[in-house]
Amino acid sequence: MRMYDIIMKKRNGGELSKEEIRFFIEKYTAGEIPDYQVSALMMAIYFQKMTEAETFELTMAMAESGEMLDLSGIHGIKVDKHSTGGVGDKTSLALTPMVAACGLPVAKMSGRGLGHTGGTIDKLESFPGFSTALTTEQFMENVNRIGIAIMGQTADLAPADKKLYALRDVTATVDNLSLIASSIMSKKLASGADAIVLDVKTGSGAFMKKEEDAFALAEEMVKIGRSAGRTMSALVTDMDQPLGNAVGNSLEVVEAIHTLQGKGPVDFTELVYALGSEMLVAGKKANTLEEAKDMLIKVVREGKALDKLAEFVAAQGGDKRAVYDTSLLPEAKENMEILAPQEGYVSKIICDEIGSCCLMLGGGRETKESDIDLSVGFILHKKVCDYVHAGESLATMHYNDKAKADAAKERFLKAYTISTEKPQRQLFIKGKV
Ligand code: URA
Repeated sequence: MRMYDIIMKKRNGGELSKEEIRFFIEKYTAGEIPDYQVSALMMAIYFQKMTEAETFELTMAMAESGEMLDLSGIHGIKVDKHSTGGVGDKTSLALTPMVAACGLPVAKMSGRGLGHTGGTIDKLESFPGFSTALTTEQFMENVNRIGIAIMGQTADLAPADKKLYALRDVTATVDNLSLIASSIMSKKLASGADAIVLDVKTGSGAFMKKEEDAFALAEEMVKIGRSAGRTMSALVTDMDQPLGNAVGNSLEVVEAIHTLQGKGPVDFTELVYALGSEMLVAGKKANTLEEAKDMLIKVVREGKALDKLAEFVAAQGGDKRAVYDTSLLPEAKENMEILAPQEGYVSKIICDEIGSCCLMLGGGRETKESDIDLSVGFILHKKVCDYVHAGESLATMHYNDKAKADAAKERFLKAYTISTEKPQRQLFIKGKV
């Protein structure tokens, strides 16, 4: 078999066989096929697309390129959740302790943030001392003992995807539906869960800007997971403006804590209950979504969800006092109000621009190696459809560097559109696959 022939077959619109896909993934991971040939193949796939069968084979080949985590040592059905990412997406922080408090084991691998999107691990590291550097044994032990553990993705999790994603990132071949679906699902399948609930984002802060593309991606991923024998469901949800009100690592932790106390923002709370209900049904802890939602509301009301977060933080070396006293979390030295330049309705917020403003303050990573400032970010006071008076605060910016703050403020204001006409309110949860 020759890589040249595989590239030519795809370039001409042919369907690659399982053997051909396995060949290029195995040889590329082993360093035996150069980047330039795989770049050419990615571009051919970008234009010619892949069939369902090819997408499935690519997913499995990437998942099996490294360790396939065996979670059978954990009692019960293991349900994972994955979000395609966005701005202010602190869902895992509130969702995982909530479902764990309902008795569903949570064994989750999470990532760090890059570019304008944040990562769960960075956010969790706002708890002083918290670490996600667990061995697989500690990870399993914690899940069996307290019902929840979150670890960083191991270097050996789908290494083919890691290499391929880095290459796609610099060759303008990221935004292909089959390549995104196989990339995400390879890591999810290798992480070992029995059931997977997906949160596929759509809008200006998401990979999939158009709703129909988000539904197509959700369908593709659900099909892949089912073909691999997993229980799957997906919600398509809004990322046309930041999720909740907080953007920035420790500010998002505080908002997640408020949500666990039943005081979270409406959109975020709706999302956490919807995803949590899907997880409880998939994990057979509830028979219906309604029953599941009641269970979630109950553990919040009784304080059990918040206590579960504290137990989880302590089990991974963090200071659990910060769960009950958020002044112990990193706090920026300064804050300033960003005032509305005119009155009217907020009709649009360019979501990824708000993420980029947080990055400018030091709250995100420009490169994989950058250090981040966990304390900076924004609390939005006005979101789409809200009325604002001239001079009223749109948001509070938390910062440590005045020059960065001035630049971020200017950019932040450009991300908001204020109009005289009230825009139509969009559905937050667009649908389910
Ligand atoms: N996230 C991934 O993990 N892979 C993609 O291709 C896109 C988003």
